Amino acid sequence: MWQLALYEVAKVQDIPTGANIVVEVEGRSIGVYNVHGTFYAVHNYCPHQGAELCKGPVCGTNLESNVYEFIYGRDQEIIRCPWHGWEFDLKTGKSLFSEKVRVRSYPVEVADNIIYLSIGK
Ligand code: FES
Repeated sequence: MWQLALYEVAKVQDIPTGANIVVEVEGRSIGVYNVHGTFYAVHNYCPHQGAELCKGPVCGTNLESNVYEFIYGRDQEIIRCPWHGWEFDLKTGKSLFSEKVRVRSYPVEVADNIIYLSIGK
């Protein structure tokens, strides 16, 4: 039977805004990120060729703009894979280039200053 379990992974102060940690839960390596004060969690495994995604930089991206115009935005919301540069939205796990490609993400809950991951068993 499918069940969700909560796993305590850190205290809120352990992951300041813009920072992240990698934790092991139920045999899975998972990166927990503080994006502008909200916590998100993604599998530390790139869906392209299996790199440790969480070794990649957290950054922003170029927003839609006119030709010859470059507008940087979404700072700290994107993770870029260290191997071939695929980029993923930390809030949703979706890649920036296709609706169908995504890194697995996990629900995060915060209660009494503790960060929990919600993971199926
Ligand atoms: S393994 Fe991540 S982009 Fe290739």
